[in-house]
Amino acid sequence: MSIKILTQNMHVPNLPQIGVYESLGGYSGLKKALRELKPAEIIEIVKKSGLRGRGGAGFPTGLKWGFVPKDSGKPVYLCVNADESEPGTFKDRLIIEKDPHQLIEGTILAAYAIGCHQAFIYIRGEFCYGAEVLNRAAREAYEKGYLGKNILGSGFDLDVIVHRGAGAYICGEETGLLESIEGKRGHPRLKPPFPAVVGLYDSPTIINNVETLSNVPHIINNGAEWYAAIGVERNSGTRLFGVSGHVQKRGVFEFPMGISLRELIFDHCGGMRNGRKLKAVVPGGSSVPVLTADQIDVSLDFDSIAKAESMLGSAGVIVMDESTCMVKAALRISKFYAEESCGQCTQCREGTEWIYRILSRIENGSGRSGELELLLDICSNMKALTICPLSDAAAMPIESYIKKFYDEFAAHIEEGRCVVA
Ligand SMILES: Cc1cc2nc3c(=O)[nH]c(=O)nc-3n(C[C@H](O)[C@H](O)[C@H](O)COP(=O)(O)O)c2cc1C
Ligand code: SF4
Repeated sequence: MSIKILTQNMHVPNLPQIGVYESLGGYSGLKKALRELKPAEIIEIVKKSGLRGRGGAGFPTGLKWGFVPKDSGKPVYLCVNADESEPGTFKDRLIIEKDPHQLIEGTILAAYAIGCHQAFIYIRGEFCYGAEVLNRAAREAYEKGYLGKNILGSGFDLDVIVHRGAGAYICGEETGLLESIEGKRGHPRLKPPFPAVVGLYDSPTIINNVETLSNVPHIINNGAEWYAAIGVERNSGTRLFGVSGHVQKRGVFEFPMGISLRELIFDHCGGMRNGRKLKAVVPGGSSVPVLTADQIDVSLDFDSIAKAESMLGSAGVIVMDESTCMVKAALRISKFYAEESCGQCTQCREGTEWIYRILSRIENGSGRSGELELLLDICSNMKALTICPLSDAAAMPIESYIKKFYDEFAAHIEEGRCVVA
């Protein structure tokens, strides 16, 4: 099936201009919602659509919105997570740069549904152009009366602030993001309480990913049943797969959830480069366990990838061919996590650094016997014990690289050199 939802209009020139977006039906979902639907009805529609979060964990979006208390007496905030710092992930950037009004319309709809009058779009610091595009789009939306006071005469008010990050991966973690907006270090908070109840400035706050919210206008326009019929059971809609690595054609591909990894790589990405053989695939950004070449008949949806003992995560698909040294790949990832750990939890602060040091030794030809078991032991002590899941995200891939390519790691230690190249 070749249905496109989020990227359907991206070939149209000047789509970031509000007039072009409107000429393609843009902001009709918002007009319909403000005219015909109560906030609780929007939450119901999103629940029925089966939309699950595209930021990583796949949490049901409508259910999350329903957690906002109705009677807190405090303002409700919406934070759009546009931090997109996960290595191998580059799909939110496409939406931001190519179709920013789709995201702004989704943001307004979500804000209306949860009773929020102040939204923030927290954008990765390095996305200078994306921030410019979003600021311009927000200005246009104010001028047209889609933002600001009494939106389209409905009595609903909403302001949106585009807030730039400063280049820290941990500020993509939702509570690190909240701390950062509050002007503090991006140190994740202990949960519970969850942000839906105690979030930004101690007030109820919903945090959603860019891709998640960009789906909402389409759900409102076409209905929950239409959306739920796309994809596979419990995994509705499409996904933006950001494919990188050793394939012929790299880029962002939109397909209904349920397409197989084999089909994605060999039918749509043109197969492997230079006639080489597939060795391994990371299906959901650098934080998830790696899959081997014989696992690619898996369906790309949250539940099937979980059954294959990995995660669909951010759908950043990194394809590696037979020339890849798995020790080097693991080392590269471990360096990233060692640098990005915020340092609050001992397991994460020390564990990420030790993994990096030991892998460096193995890669440099001075690995010692017993170090693979030591690495696996460190990894197992880093999981499910810390304030936020960065520690797990650092440990899980390394564990999987070692377990699935054990002989290659062992040969590095025994022979003191890379056995792949
Ligand atoms: C270390 C870390 C980094 C994260 N980075 C991002 C990110 O860049 N963008 C994102 O949307 N979610 C990121 N997440 C997930 C968010 O914490 C949160 O679950 C997500 O924004 C919720 O949105 P969703 O329900 O729409 O998926 C990250 C999580 C962790 C643990
Ligand atoms: S797990 Fe790591 S990144 Fe997360 S709070 Fe603890 S030290 Fe910081």
